[in-house]
Amino acid sequence: MSDQLKERIRQLLPRTIETRRHLHMHPELSDHESETAALVARRLRELGLEPRTGIGGHGVVADIAGRAPGPTIALRADMDALPIQEETGLPYASVNPGVMHACGHDGHTAMMLAVAEILSEEMRTRAGTVRLLFQPAEETVGGAPRMIADGALKGVQTVIALHGWRHLPVGHIGVMAGPSMAGADVFDITVRGHGAHAAYPHQSSDPIVTAARIVTALQTVVSREMDPLDPAVLTVARISGGTAYNIIPDTAHLAGTVRTLSRDVADRIEAAMRRIVEGECVAAGATGEVVYHRGSPPVVNDPAIVELVREAGVLSVGPDAVTDLLRPSMGAEDFAYMLREAPGAMYRLGIGDGAPGHNAGFDFDDRAIPAGIETLCRSALLFVERHSARP
Ligand code: NI
Repeated sequence: MSDQLKERIRQLLPRTIETRRHLHMHPELSDHESETAALVARRLRELGLEPRTGIGGHGVVADIAGRAPGPTIALRADMDALPIQEETGLPYASVNPGVMHACGHDGHTAMMLAVAEILSEEMRTRAGTVRLLFQPAEETVGGAPRMIADGALKGVQTVIALHGWRHLPVGHIGVMAGPSMAGADVFDITVRGHGAHAAYPHQSSDPIVTAARIVTALQTVVSREMDPLDPAVLTVARISGGTAYNIIPDTAHLAGTVRTLSRDVADRIEAAMRRIVEGECVAAGATGEVVYHRGSPPVVNDPAIVELVREAGVLSVGPDAVTDLLRPSMGAEDFAYMLREAPGAMYRLGIGDGAPGHNAGFDFDDRAIPAGIETLCRSALLFVERHSARP
């Protein structure tokens, strides 16, 4: 079947590239993926599948049932684009001003449509079900939890996804067990002092000075309070307050993000932040408010499923092109929510060293498409074969 599968992928490649470039040219922002979802649903119907639409927003879900009941594996692709004005100059560059596929989700979606076509054929001789999840709103971290709430992961034994990755050669596969991408929280801090004429600071409690102290004090949370072996980031990304040269304002605002590889570390950072804000505000005769929003959890890959993906990778691209990733990424990915519903894995597909993701010069490298399709197909087939009862 190995050569057969590669041959089938070769046949599907021109149309997959065409689809990928069509999606690239017509990107849609998170929660506006109506045209993309319509294209996906239409193509799935052409394959004889019965896609369910409107799942968690513009999400599309389709089951590919085998010839007999058995295990269910879900494969997920994200569909949304980013609010960036494309500057690639490509013939298939975005025609939607200010919207761009700068994270490669066009590639993910196009590859998954080819996977749908191949697995529709392959599952005729196998037991079990492959469920395809076309997810909206990954970039705004809303799509995955909403699809789960709409039952997309019900009855699923495992869930797998890939993401294009620049730091791997084109078509290589990177796997990592355990925590591999960060959880991402955001926070807002308000410092309420009291304002005065800027020439009479003794009549104020200056929230600008207090906010500055808080920014400095927060620098020791990671460096002095966290175990150096627990990766963590605390970034104050926004600071604002005041309106004029000669007015000390009443309030100042800080906002930013916290990235960690475990909920426990995030809990400790939140507690330290609350303590520091309160302490600095008390010292300054001000009051402080911290609003800490829990974002997506860390991506924690199941070791057994990672082994399965590794095997699929070796069969697809050979052992030399499968890499054990040694360092997690502090980027976030809302696929993490799905991994809380079922053990599974996100792996990385090398797209070489072009422009970075979320950049106006980014383009998904079409040369990575065959490896992406084959590893997804093989992961699904290995799983249903291994977990079906033998006759
Ligand atoms: Ni992405």
